[in-house]
Amino acid sequence: MKTNEVLENIKARRSVRAYTDQQISYENLQTILEAATYAPNGMHYESWHFTAIQNTDKLTELNNRIKGAFVKSDDQRMQERGHNQSYCCYYHAPTLVIVSNESTQWWAGMDCACAIENMFLAATSLGIGSCWINQLGTTCDDPEVREFITSLGVPENHKVYGCVALGFADPQIPKKEKTVKVGTVTIVK
Ligand SMILES: Cc1cc2nc3c(=O)[nH]c(=O)nc-3n(C[C@H](O)[C@H](O)[C@H](O)COP(=O)(O)O)c2cc1C
Repeated sequence: MKTNEVLENIKARRSVRAYTDQQISYENLQTILEAATYAPNGMHYESWHFTAIQNTDKLTELNNRIKGAFVKSDDQRMQERGHNQSYCCYYHAPTLVIVSNESTQWWAGMDCACAIENMFLAATSLGIGSCWINQLGTTCDDPEVREFITSLGVPENHKVYGCVALGFADPQIPKKEKTVKVGTVTIVK
């Protein structure tokens, strides 16, 4: 199998779920956001939006509003999460990027997924940990959540397709080995 810097970076990426308090630099954030905007997107519409939050109080408020939406859910597991004092959907990462797009475009979610993976790979190459955070996707239309994300800058006609937690991985948590399922590839010649 061939290898190079790009391929090694792809293999090195892992979801990080425990972070130190250290904030990532503005330059690194800008670099990661720029990588997002270089992702392929349907018809090159670039209708996506990236709302980066580095304010701890605002992140806590966002988590509280998401939990508030969970409490209203019919799903008992979601209700339990909503009532759980220690639950933090973004793992206390110091930076969270909300990735949103116009919900009327059928490829909106695919565009966002491409941009999110670009952010993950850019972060990995800079020594920054990352994780996909999905909880805002299901709760962004809850009125209290919507009011808050609008105040943060998420366009009102956008749905949230995912969020990217960014920060430095807690060195006390060992990096998990990646296992790759066999039988997921078919090559026809
Ligand atoms: C669409 C999508 C949604 C995900 N949502 C979450 C999430 O909400 N929270 C989380 O901790 N990880 C989430 N993940 C991360 C996956 O659990 C992770 O990628 C998978 O377990 C493989 O591990 P790896 O990323 O370390 O290779 C999500 C990943 C994808 C692609």
